Amino acid sequence: MNKATKNRLLRLLLVVSIPVSGLLFILIYPYFTGEKMTDRKRYETYCGNCHGKEGQGFRDLYPPLAGSDYLSKHETELPCLIRHGLSGTITVNGKTFDQPMPELPFLNPSQIADILNFVNHSWGNHGRDWGEKDVNIVLGKCPGQARRM
Ligand code: HEC
Repeated sequence: MNKATKNRLLRLLLVVSIPVSGLLFILIYPYFTGEKMTDRKRYETYCGNCHGKEGQGFRDLYPPLAGSDYLSKHETELPCLIRHGLSGTITVNGKTFDQPMPELPFLNPSQIADILNFVNHSWGNHGRDWGEKDVNIVLGKCPGQARRM
């Protein structure tokens, strides 16, 4: 292949790849942003009223989720916490809270996984990833379940 052909091929590649990558971007973009919007929306709908839109919490009533050390210390209990609520005194980042959190029994395992993944990857948090299956397994073993049924 001589130099001229090489150059022509290179130019062709450039000319073709720009619109193709643009098109790909347009196709993929709503998929990703759509997913994120849904998770944020779900968080805001079910948790944001108390824990704050940005997970900042509210005074000494609602503990923060942004930067909360409770999340990593009680990682595997979180699906049960969401489904069955929480009461009693807890400590989050050295501050105590003792308002009860209500149960949210209408959230299914896939929604709980989405919310936990959103919380675990927002506001600088770096928690684990939850799948619907993992959440389901944990929910089957929540403490106090026998009493509730
Ligand atoms: C009606 C208010 C309310 C709602 C709605 C609510 N929480 Fe809570 N949450 C609380 C309170 C109050 C506590 C502290 C409970 C205690 O002191 O025992 C708490 C504690 C927590 C904790 C442990 C402490 C911390 O800050 O890390 C997590 C995690 C949590 N909530 C996550 C959630 C998630 C996720 C949702 C939505 C699915 C949610 N909460 C919905 C009020 C609420």
